[in-house]
Amino acid sequence: MTAVGIDAIEIRTGKLKLDLAETFAPQKGEDPEKYTKGIGLEQSSFPDVYEDIVTMGANAAKSLMDRKGLVPDDIGRIDVATESAFDNSKPVSTYIAGCLEQVYEGDFHHANKGERKFACLAGTQSIDDAYNWIRAGRNRGRAALVVATDTALYARGDPGEATQGAGAVAMLITEEPSVVELSTEQGYGSADETDFLKPNQQFPSVDGKRSVQVYLARMREALEDYESVAGDTHPDDFDYIPFHTPFPGMVRKAALLGYRHMTRGTDVEDALESEIGRQPREEAYDSWDDYEEAIRGYMDELKETEQYREWYERVIDPTINISSQIGNWYTGSVHIARLSALKTAAEEGKEMAGKRMLVGSYGSGAQAEIHAETVRDGWREEVTALDVDDQLARRYDLSYDEYELVHDVHNHDKEVDVEEFTHPDGEFVFTGWGRMNERK
Ligand code: CAA
Repeated sequence: MTAVGIDAIEIRTGKLKLDLAETFAPQKGEDPEKYTKGIGLEQSSFPDVYEDIVTMGANAAKSLMDRKGLVPDDIGRIDVATESAFDNSKPVSTYIAGCLEQVYEGDFHHANKGERKFACLAGTQSIDDAYNWIRAGRNRGRAALVVATDTALYARGDPGEATQGAGAVAMLITEEPSVVELSTEQGYGSADETDFLKPNQQFPSVDGKRSVQVYLARMREALEDYESVAGDTHPDDFDYIPFHTPFPGMVRKAALLGYRHMTRGTDVEDALESEIGRQPREEAYDSWDDYEEAIRGYMDELKETEQYREWYERVIDPTINISSQIGNWYTGSVHIARLSALKTAAEEGKEMAGKRMLVGSYGSGAQAEIHAETVRDGWREEVTALDVDDQLARRYDLSYDEYELVHDVHNHDKEVDVEEFTHPDGEFVFTGWGRMNERK
């Protein structure tokens, strides 16, 4: 069977940054380590006044098309994943296609365009749609462009405010891909939940603590469902496990849960028993709360073991290097985690071709998806071609007062006039609601 997967990736961060320890914590009267150690974030990205989900998505897509030497005729579908959409009729992909058509010969009249919504999971769902489209033989030799783009803002004063972020990830899905091949097996955990929602409102209504529990419960179900098709998993099966990363502290909890699940009944559990001195109490529980309560003591000890710490540093830590500097990009977040792992591997000179990753995606509302990926021969060339470090280093460092202005500029309910902090540099810019985005 021909391999199908991700052939190329490009990212576009919002061009402003907020330093959580230096700038945010003092204003909130909090210990900086609550953010840097507890939540796990150093900085967050924000869009400048001339950026939005369309321009960030279009700029990422243009970088990808230029680097791969593509023209519109090479792309048969454009899927945008976002939970920051501003148009209840036209999908954001039409706006992005409109931008790209300003700079390339030809147009996207032949391309199927859509917008996927399931909170942060939608980026992965868009990749799945592209995969199925190619596998069904409907692509006529063309590639799919998937753009995950979001401005993740919370109301000021909401506990989620510390986890904001903004940026886009563009990914090209093709046959014989260069970066990763997607496996056919997937697992899901899905339930109607109300811990995080945006019914006709820009900022989410969030029950933060509950949202963490829902994430973990759905992720566990997805892992069990994945194992029902792919067989039992073991921690040594995967070089990296990128999770959806609303903030790195969330990944710490997901990783511990995943490790415990994957080690049940294995040699690792036996080895851990000699270190921890007992087996966990773990029967079948109807509710997540009961399960969590039953295993809490064991998990607290597990996370302190040498064995778990070594695994976490090797398999999970590399996935959060980038997200700790950018905050939550919602739909792009798990794709940043994958990129972060591969970028770290490239920097460490590690060979990844043929190695496997287990990817844990999640969207509030709520649904988790687990699937495996195999790294392809061209991964290193693709990943080292990205200018992630430059983009992050070039961001304008906001003062707290400037941050509040930027927050207001991107609040659709407010009309404020603020000067730009950076200057457009040959890129698509936002020129006002209902008007075309232009290139400057
Ligand atoms: N030094 C070190 N650590 C500290 C500390 C200090 N001085 N002060 C606090 N901490 C630790 C806490 O112990 C805690 O760690 P644990 O969770 O491991 O116990 C961590 O820092 C966070 O502290 P709090 O729980 O007190 O933080 P909070 O209540 O202010 O906010 C939150 C946490 C509720 C998750 C909030 O960030 C939030 O609402 N976020 C938005 C919702 C969210 O992201 N949920 C995640 C799941 S839903 C999802 O994934 C979808 C999505 O993208 C939104």
